[in-house]
Amino acid sequence: MRIDVLTLFPEMFQAILGSSLIGRARGAGVLEIGLVDFREYSTDRHHVVDDYPFGGGAGMLLKPEPIFAAVDQLRARAADGTDGTRIVLMSPQGRLLSHEVAQELSSSGHLIIVCGHYEGFDERIRTHLATDEISIGDYVLTGGELAAMVLIDAVARFVPGVLGNSDSHRLDSFADGLLEHPQYTRPREFRGIGVPDVLLSGDHAKIAAWRRRQALLRTLRRRPDLLLRASLSDGDRRTVEMLRSADRDEDT
Ligand code: ADE
Repeated sequence: MRIDVLTLFPEMFQAILGSSLIGRARGAGVLEIGLVDFREYSTDRHHVVDDYPFGGGAGMLLKPEPIFAAVDQLRARAADGTDGTRIVLMSPQGRLLSHEVAQELSSSGHLIIVCGHYEGFDERIRTHLATDEISIGDYVLTGGELAAMVLIDAVARFVPGVLGNSDSHRLDSFADGLLEHPQYTRPREFRGIGVPDVLLSGDHAKIAAWRRRQALLRTLRRRPDLLLRASLSDGDRRTVEMLRSADRDEDT
C-alpha cells in the first residue's frame, strides 16, 4: 500500500516513520509513505498557501491551487493507471474514524491524505478533490498532522504483512464489536495482586468462556452503545441480560 501525505509540516511525521511496526513495514516494502510539502506547489513568489475568506471573517483558509497541483502530480505518478486512489481530507467535520473505516481505507492501494491548517480549507478542496473526509474525534486540533498519523497507524494495521501475526487484528478490541477481555502476564502475583485462577487452569474451553464473559461485561459497563452493533450469539445475549440484571441488583 502507498500513502502520500500533503502537509506543511513534513518533519512532524518523523515521529512515526521509523518506529515500531510502521518502520518495519516500510523496511519490508509492504507500506510506502511519501511526504509532500504542498508549499512547494505554490507558484507565487512567496510560496503563499493561504488567503483571506471571501465575505470576510476571522482566520485564513488554505488556497485550492497548491493542493490540487500536488494531488495532480501524485496521481500522474501512480504507476498502475487504475485510479483507485482515495483522497482523504483530515477535518473535524469528517466521518468519525473507526475500526471499520480504517479497514475500508486499507483496501485501497493508494491513499493521499491532505492535512489542513489555519482556519480551514477552500470549500472546493472538499467538494471537487477529496473522496473522503475523516475526523478522529469531536475536538479541534491545530492541524491535521496528528490526525493523519492516527489514521495511518490504524489503516496500516490492516495491510497484509504489517502485523507480525496476520490474525492479531481479528482479536483486537472492536474487531467483533466488543472491547477486549483483561489480560495478564507473569508474575502470577505482583504486589499482592493475583491473576484470575481460571487463566492458570489450563482448561482452554473454560478460559475462552471466561474471556468472552469478561469482554461482554467490560463492553456493557464501559461502552454499552457498542452492544447494539456487536455480533452476539444467543448465548452472548443471555449472558449480557444476566450481567445487566446483576449490575441493576447491585445498584438497588
Ligand atoms: N483537524 C483538526 N481537528 C481534527 C480532527 N478532530 N480530526 C481530523 N482532522 C482534524
